[in-house]
Amino acid sequence: MNGSSRQRSRRGGLLVSVLTLVMGLALVFAAPAFAQEGTPPQPSALNPVGPNSGTIATLFTIVLAMAVVVFVIVEGLIVFSAIRFRHKARDASEPTQVHGNTRLEIAWTIAPAVIVVTLFVLALQGLQTIDTPPAQAANDPVTIKVIGHRFWWEYQYPDYHITTATDLVIPVGTVVNLELTSVDVIHSFWIPQLNGKTDAFPNRINKTWIQANTPGVYYGQCAELCGPSHANMRIVAIAKTQADFDQWVKQQQAAPAPSTDPLAQRGQQLFLTGACIGCHTIDGTAAQGQVGPNLTHMGSRTSIAGGMLSNTDGNLRRWLADPPGLKPDSVMPNLNLSKDDVNALVAYLQSLK
Ligand code: CUA
Repeated sequence: MNGSSRQRSRRGGLLVSVLTLVMGLALVFAAPAFAQEGTPPQPSALNPVGPNSGTIATLFTIVLAMAVVVFVIVEGLIVFSAIRFRHKARDASEPTQVHGNTRLEIAWTIAPAVIVVTLFVLALQGLQTIDTPPAQAANDPVTIKVIGHRFWWEYQYPDYHITTATDLVIPVGTVVNLELTSVDVIHSFWIPQLNGKTDAFPNRINKTWIQANTPGVYYGQCAELCGPSHANMRIVAIAKTQADFDQWVKQQQAAPAPSTDPLAQRGQQLFLTGACIGCHTIDGTAAQGQVGPNLTHMGSRTSIAGGMLSNTDGNLRRWLADPPGLKPDSVMPNLNLSKDDVNALVAYLQSLK
């Protein structure tokens, strides 16, 4: 390699380093901006809609800011040294070598210690905030029992005598106390915009709380590997205004009106004489199974199959035709239903408003 080509490759190396640094920083700062765009709202922990998740997001921002300062100082010194003390052709001798610098060594021992203690105190404060829901003035807190199943979530509202699944309906501006448990393996309940991950164990109740400040749909996800369809174990939290929530409660408490549609009536016949009642409950009928979701008001839900599909006739048809095909290892088996039977069952289930 001659002198000028060595210089070129050195310049190339420097250019790549600077570009990498710039792109890395751009990514770090642009990520939260991207996370806040797009519809439906991105289920990002950096886009909080309540005090619980807000505490976590604030802590994250502080840690990120401190990490950026440290990164810039360290990388800056490396780049500075690389340029300032680079090899120069006309000066072949080594620079003066030094060993030990007490002041510097004390400084780089104290600075990280201060950072770690600061983060420790901030994290403790955050934990305390998350542990104590804000005192309620206007509305009493709502309690919901959250029960993990492979692979869907069951929601029980003991104060209202409502049992539902897949859609978690909550009122805005109200503390919602969650009591989490599981009937099988360990799951973890996580709605990034509303709370931090909280595990759901069998034979144990873990408590946490959420509060949504604005009406909307907030998506979540089981956050503990629980089997082949772990990724299909979703959460759809629907925050309604108090008036809309009250109306929802009334609707869920009332028995669904019997359908006059002959197809739906045939579907009901099929449901109540077939395998369905072994696993599902529909209040006011002979169906009292406890294995699968309570379907009393299935037609009023926005999502099905543990939240992996939106509740449309087409999706419900696909689901009934082959559950394990859509959702690997689902407890619901393929019942080998005929197309006509699937259509009748869809008409019946969607009539359960
Ligand atoms: Cu339940 Cu992962």
